[in-house]
Amino acid sequence: MRQLVAGNWKMHKLRGPAAALARAIAADSPVLGCDLLICPPFTALAAVAAVLRGSRVALGAQDCHAAESGAFTGDIAAPMLADIGCSAVIVGHSERRQYYGETSAQVRAKAVAAAAAALMAVVCVGESEAERDAGRAAEVVRAQVMESVPDGFEGVVAYEPVWAIGTGRTPTLDDVAAMHAAIRQALRHRLGLDGAGLRILYGGSVKAQNAAALLAVPEVGGALVGGASLDSGEFLRIAAVARRG
Ligand code: 13P
Repeated sequence: MRQLVAGNWKMHKLRGPAAALARAIAADSPVLGCDLLICPPFTALAAVAAVLRGSRVALGAQDCHAAESGAFTGDIAAPMLADIGCSAVIVGHSERRQYYGETSAQVRAKAVAAAAAALMAVVCVGESEAERDAGRAAEVVRAQVMESVPDGFEGVVAYEPVWAIGTGRTPTLDDVAAMHAAIRQALRHRLGLDGAGLRILYGGSVKAQNAAALLAVPEVGGALVGGASLDSGEFLRIAAVARRG
């Protein structure tokens, strides 16, 4: 399966630097065989969309509201993202679950809204350090998948252990393999045969230096990259070791 390398820029980059970063990534993308997605902050989406037009790099947002429209001050609806040129959206990132109390039920509703707007949802799951230490990682992640993934889901799941995000720490390759196998099993349980073909990304301190090993783990369908996606060279070096098909 062709791997997907996605960059989550989080709350970084004004429009000018965002367009420049997107331009550098798009310029090199023709030689890369994997799928590429970048997710800038909302305010840079239009500028980056203009840069990516006609390139192989897809544009995504980092969150959306579950409603199609309505009185939700400050929120952004999925059709607005499609309208600005997005083809994907991250939902349920651990920073949203942690800092804004998003529940898996809310994440599922957002994934439904994304699909209704023809956006590919990147549904994030992952255990905290305390949950891992208590031996509950697989159980927690399985429950997040079962509750966050809607019926008929055609998007992507990203496994991001909370303790590996922005810390420089990663799980062992055996742990990544075990968690991805558990997520695959949960997806099959949730979606039947359709759950067998969905991509499961790994995220959490992915860098050029560890990408080849992480992307070679069975059932790893790509990477969701935070900090290292803010540097075009580093991001492209990660993409260069991803599988083409
Ligand atoms: P880092 O790659 O900075 O650890 O962030 C991972 C992440 O949260 C991507 O969504």
